[in-house]
Amino acid sequence: MNSHELIATAKSLVCGGKGLLAMDESNPTCNKRFAALDIPQTEEARRAYRELIVTAPSLGESISGAILYDETIRQKTVGSISFVDVLLQAGIIPGIKVDMGAKNLAGFPGEKVTEGLDGLAARVQEYARMGARFAKWRAVIAIDTDIPTPGCIDANAHALARYAAICQETGLVPIVEPEVLMDGSHDLQRCFEVTGQVLHAVFNQLHGQRVMLEGIILKPNMVLPGNDCPQQSVLKQVVDATIRCLLRVVPAAVPGIAFLSGGQSAELASARLNAMNVQSAAKLPWALTFSFARAIQQPALEIWSGKDANVKAAQQALLRRAKCNRAARRGEYNAAMERP
Ligand code: 13P
Repeated sequence: MNSHELIATAKSLVCGGKGLLAMDESNPTCNKRFAALDIPQTEEARRAYRELIVTAPSLGESISGAILYDETIRQKTVGSISFVDVLLQAGIIPGIKVDMGAKNLAGFPGEKVTEGLDGLAARVQEYARMGARFAKWRAVIAIDTDIPTPGCIDANAHALARYAAICQETGLVPIVEPEVLMDGSHDLQRCFEVTGQVLHAVFNQLHGQRVMLEGIILKPNMVLPGNDCPQQSVLKQVVDATIRCLLRVVPAAVPGIAFLSGGQSAELASARLNAMNVQSAAKLPWALTFSFARAIQQPALEIWSGKDANVKAAQQALLRRAKCNRAARRGEYNAAMERP
């Protein structure tokens, strides 16, 4: 393991005033989003959509790294340039999702554990040869009356730590993503408590598996009330709860925190990230940035709708969202930036 290289990659992902673009939807997830817009669910449609994204002009001004999926990292533009090369030419670091999805956790009804550790070292080595410099593994934690259980939290935290150690051994920076879901009617305080417990378990396991914290990126949820909670929080409550939670459990050695959007509206995700950076950036030990999928892509996907004639307009929408989030990452976002 080359620690200097890992640290340098982690820093370049989060410290240059930019953020990450997650474009690593698995085929079933990508197909589900296509189906909702009547886009054909074919390999060629997925390729064309990902080509639209990676070739968006000047994407590298806002995006430091892009997370690809196994199918996508092997694909090329119509002009036969690999997506990895297109990203590198744009100054964007290629990354790869390496987990195999969240599956039912035996003995724990309603809870999931993320699979993919078997054979992971060999897969990570192959991705490294293809040009990936960082990786992603997402654990999913649901909140309900009696969940999450310690059994579910520990199983997911352990898998995240094993994955992170394997990535670092191969020279890839692991993005460690324990996502506490927004589904449900729980309130902000409950999300605060669960997110704190989960992150505490994750850092405990990372320590136990000898993961070098300077060479990871943490990708957490923001602390939010559940979607069905009757009492939705104002901006300042979300910012305060999220920062307080992270300060309690995320060691200062971690170079950066890149939030997932988790189904928030694109505008809210930007406004909340911006408020965190305005209020606290100078006082925090880590960079606070984004690693959004839906909060960057969704407007572009809707405009594209599978039609060649819409590619340019869709790219404009993608770039607008990328720029809004870059501004939010720097504490310079305002709602007027959303206008075409
Ligand atoms: P969202 O921003 O759509 O939550 O996706 C981020 C991600 O990469 C989930 O693993």
